[in-house]
Amino acid sequence: MKITVFSSKAYDEQYLSAEARDHALTFVGARLDATTAAVAAGNDAVIAFVNDALDEDTLTRLADLGVRLVLLRCAGFNHVDLAAAERLGLAVAHVPAYSPNAVAEHTLALIMALNRKIHRAFNRVREGNFALDGLIGFDMKGRTVGLVGTGAIGAAAAGIFKGFGCTVLAVDPYPSEQLVADGVRYVAFEALLREADIISLHCPLTPSTKHIIDAPAIALTKTDVMLINTSRGALVDTRAVIDALKGGQIGSLGLDVYEEESDLFFEDLSDQVLHDDVFARLLTFPNVIITGHQGFFTHEALSAIARTTMDNADQFARHGTPVHPVTQHMNR
Ligand code: NAI
Repeated sequence: MKITVFSSKAYDEQYLSAEARDHALTFVGARLDATTAAVAAGNDAVIAFVNDALDEDTLTRLADLGVRLVLLRCAGFNHVDLAAAERLGLAVAHVPAYSPNAVAEHTLALIMALNRKIHRAFNRVREGNFALDGLIGFDMKGRTVGLVGTGAIGAAAAGIFKGFGCTVLAVDPYPSEQLVADGVRYVAFEALLREADIISLHCPLTPSTKHIIDAPAIALTKTDVMLINTSRGALVDTRAVIDALKGGQIGSLGLDVYEEESDLFFEDLSDQVLHDDVFARLLTFPNVIITGHQGFFTHEALSAIARTTMDNADQFARHGTPVHPVTQHMNR
């Protein structure tokens, strides 16, 4: 098949080229939207990423150009208008679980950096400041962690927290018997908010999980709670989180995703003025660490993403359906 890869970086080209098989891949740096879709004219499929605009306009343009398949090189599909895709006869595929460990381990990197103030210690030592004031952390052993979502990534995170000797609470409409056997305790969302020292989000973004962490939810948490979001930005009401950081209700915040990240992440904007005042305010807190959606960014994950993306392409070429289709009913 002829396939255009949008939002492509050097590392995408490296890993996808290695798995191209008999497909002809064209790599385009531009983000996919209704305007840039024209680049895919004459192609059978497009490969898109998390911040490509897969709304009705873009999908209509793609269908008009003869594209039949949208291959997401990511797990989340909240950014795709699946109803429009279905109406237009466009198949959509994703990569469901390429390396849950990559994201779970990044979650731990954020937690441990915030807890032991590594970001501040790093700068201090480089400046010859060896004072320890302000760097007090806490032992992970014995702390209570609340996981919102225990699918592939949440389950991997649960295993790591168990290794630390944490009590692990979880919320998921589909509890895992294996995790229960491993000692994870499923509770109501409100109970998780009340009891957890660290809350970590691992559920997909859907209409029912948007702003699942909002002002009323934050009001139920322990004072000084640590909040971690490596899932999707809009799970968190960022303005409510900023208020809670100012008031001390949230003690520390680790983000790998941000509600408005599509205007920022994955690009070098270091010589530009930051226009997003909410994001700029987040950057002023000493107890906030933000990474730019890099949870997935390991060798193992990139290899698995490329392999599964091209498996989806292969099976669609042979049998008319991808290995991992995404359909409307999954987006509730
Ligand atoms: P998964 O589909 O294996 O697990 C998601 C779990 O969330 C399921 O068990 C589901 O039942 C549960 N869930 C759904 N609604 C819920 C609710 N209201 N409350 C609690 N749980 C709920 O997905 P996986 O692979 O674990 O990924 C989770 C999310 O992580 C993805 O949706 C994606 O947004 C994000 N992600 C982030 C990456 C990064 O680089 N930062 C990379 C990959 C995924």
